[in-house]
Amino acid sequence: MNVLILGSGGREHTLAWKLVQSPGLTQLFVAPGNAGTAAIANNLPMGVNDFPAIREAVLEKEIHLVVVGPEDPLVNGLHDFFLSDASLKHVPVIGPQKLAATLEGSKEFAKEFMARHQIPTAAYQSFTAGQLQEGYRFLEKMTPPYVLKADGLAAGKGVLILQDLGEAKNELRAMLQDAKFGAASRTVVIEEFLSGIELSCFVLTDGENYKVLPMAKDYKRIGEGDTGLNTGGMGAVSPVPFADREFVDKIHSRIVKPTIAGLKKDNIPYKGFIFIGLIKVGADPMVIEYNVRMGDPETEVVIPRVKNDLLEVFRAVAEERLDEIDLQIDDRSATTVMTVSGGYPGAYEKGKPISGLSSVADAIPFHAGTTLKDDVVLTNGGRVLAITAFGRDHKEALATAYRNVAKIHFSGMYYRKDIGFDL
Ligand code: AMP
Ligand code: GLY
Repeated sequence: MNVLILGSGGREHTLAWKLVQSPGLTQLFVAPGNAGTAAIANNLPMGVNDFPAIREAVLEKEIHLVVVGPEDPLVNGLHDFFLSDASLKHVPVIGPQKLAATLEGSKEFAKEFMARHQIPTAAYQSFTAGQLQEGYRFLEKMTPPYVLKADGLAAGKGVLILQDLGEAKNELRAMLQDAKFGAASRTVVIEEFLSGIELSCFVLTDGENYKVLPMAKDYKRIGEGDTGLNTGGMGAVSPVPFADREFVDKIHSRIVKPTIAGLKKDNIPYKGFIFIGLIKVGADPMVIEYNVRMGDPETEVVIPRVKNDLLEVFRAVAEERLDEIDLQIDDRSATTVMTVSGGYPGAYEKGKPISGLSSVADAIPFHAGTTLKDDVVLTNGGRVLAITAFGRDHKEALATAYRNVAKIHFSGMYYRKDIGFDL
């Protein structure tokens, strides 16, 4: 089988690394990919939202399966585009159609879905520009901190958590009336603040059956001790030590099961990954958000723990026979440490040569923002490399990951030295 992966980050390199281990794979293509995927697959120079170019590549390279990494093409309707095209509709896409992608593309849609299916989440109300006064009154009735969320996709920046009522009102006005996050904040969800520790649950579904993948926890802030600006993720661990059997059972019964049942009940077709962002409040899991893809860098610790042939698993999703798959999980712990460009998540420079990659021994260097120029690997993004290692527990795995991170160098390189500090 020929497979095309869309995306260019550590998530896509990890999926590629796993798929090339499948005996059923003939050729693997990644668009646009990075230096890591170039070493194990064929990179195609096209954007993930360039549907006509993707169509042409699928036909020309005789692609049998497409795996979508990021949310954008899904929210933009890539899967629907395939289904509506006579020459593409037989090519399965791993990643849901536009309607289901709205679970990530609209916070209001996600909250209404959860309310309808009694899935535990923060209490909320949503407001549009004409309802600013109602929004103010709603805020006045709440206790701080105030959580304001732009309804649409805002590149991970659309959530504000504020201590002061006046500031919350100002921000609400900026979002609704001054388009602080553009069209994404035309509707704003105001919700109850939940206090607890976060973790992520990943589910793969064919619409009928589902498999729960290993839990993971990522570290989003740039600074040690979870301080400073939000990033795409600076590291991750799997499994999550505080997610014991009893807690995981609650996630399955109160959240995963009703989510899959809700999709079916609402006639929302879904073939692909569901990433459920959770928070542990007391002893109970609550949903913070849905994403319609895998997480990054969570993929770099979740997928290496899956022992199955991933191509077989994807084929089972495509053919709606995921119930036939017996998921086998490595019981070791996997951790990843992200090395980033100096200045990230603010402005940073690209094009710095990376050295030491060949001395990484007992870890896997997954490429995120890298590119190849004259056989030299250069930095090409904020997040550059995710170094994944295994161990008996997260401490042993982290020690190995950090030992290997120390072998890598590029000008301005930064990484957090405290991944797992709170476990
Ligand atoms: P989201 O984009 O919905 O994942 O929100 C981004 C981050 O904001 C989450 O990872 C949480 O850390 C935080 N957050 C979102 N909603 C809440 C809430 N209701 N209570 C507390 N923290 C929240
Ligand atoms: N690491 C968080 C995300 O992928 O959204």
